[in-house]
Amino acid sequence: RKRILSGIQPTGTPTLGNYMGAVRNWALLQKDYDCLYMVADLHSLTVREEPAALRRRTRELASLLLAAGIDPVNSVLFVQSHVPAHTQLSWILACNTQFGELSRMTQFKDKSAKHPDNVNGGLFTYPVLMAADILIYNADLVPVGQDQTQHLEIARDIAQRFNGVYGNTFTLPEGYVPAAGAKIMSLAEPTKKMSKSDPNVNSFVLMTDDRDTIVRKFKRAVTDSDGVVRFDAANKPGVSNLMTIYSAFTGKTMEEIEAEFAGKGYGDFKMAVAETTADALAPVQAEYGRILADKAYVDGVLKDGAARASRIADRMVAKVYRKVGLLQLD
Ligand code: TYM
Repeated sequence: RKRILSGIQPTGTPTLGNYMGAVRNWALLQKDYDCLYMVADLHSLTVREEPAALRRRTRELASLLLAAGIDPVNSVLFVQSHVPAHTQLSWILACNTQFGELSRMTQFKDKSAKHPDNVNGGLFTYPVLMAADILIYNADLVPVGQDQTQHLEIARDIAQRFNGVYGNTFTLPEGYVPAAGAKIMSLAEPTKKMSKSDPNVNSFVLMTDDRDTIVRKFKRAVTDSDGVVRFDAANKPGVSNLMTIYSAFTGKTMEEIEAEFAGKGYGDFKMAVAETTADALAPVQAEYGRILADKAYVDGVLKDGAARASRIADRMVAKVYRKVGLLQLD
């Protein structure tokens, strides 16, 4: 079976964007792949965090992933910092990655423009650690939203270059970007990506929002004055984003959705999108409450996950250390 690796940062509660772009597919892909899923706590240190909040969110996120259907028996669920091999490989890869290529990363440019007071080295080498996360398991497939595709490309470039210099070592990973839902937009500014770090709480739906909150947020979603439910991402970004969400949850095509709401106002349409979203998240939320209450269970899963991930990752680090010429004693 082919192997999957993916990760999510424990910065804030995941949004509907994280769910549709990534987490939902993580669960679905488990039946066809051997999967490793990771809470990327080291990556989240690129933004300053309150230590107690980071610890709490890491456990919450692991619980939420379990609630969303990650099966800890057949898949490996772990916390990035619990597998030290990632940081070990990251250094070797950093020495094989150029300043120029890291400087071209759009996420680095965006984030350093947004937080000019904390443009740290970790933010700059972020894609190298992400490449290590993926390459250390020889992952074939990486299910992510659209905003991570550039990071995936650099991971492939790093792997290819390393293989060229030191001999075949790493599998070149492919991205798995869903056809619908790879880029869910902000409900308040539909030309911007929906993001859990957005200061406007009405711009996103959280995976943990209750039905009333979901309805309220969708009711307020920015649309247009045209009054027709029609897919046109360039001219009707708000309506098109809502149609994308509706389509991804119901499986209906854009044409079917246009027909369903022909002659109806945006009010009916928004209500349908909200109800569908709430229905989809309800079972995950019910499970989440139950799982989060069982700290011993969650910690047991993460301990087991770290041990299983380490077995694979440690072997790769030993192999890479040998290839680059680090002395190994017997
Ligand atoms: P993160 O935590 O920002 O997001 C987790 C996943 O959610 C996707 N996503 C979205 N998809 C659709 N619409 C949106 N509005 C939206 N917002 C976020 C992201 O594309 C991502 O798939 N660097 C990664 C974490 C990471 C990782 C890895 C991923 C660390 N190591 C190795 C894959 C492989 C990140 O910050 O994701």
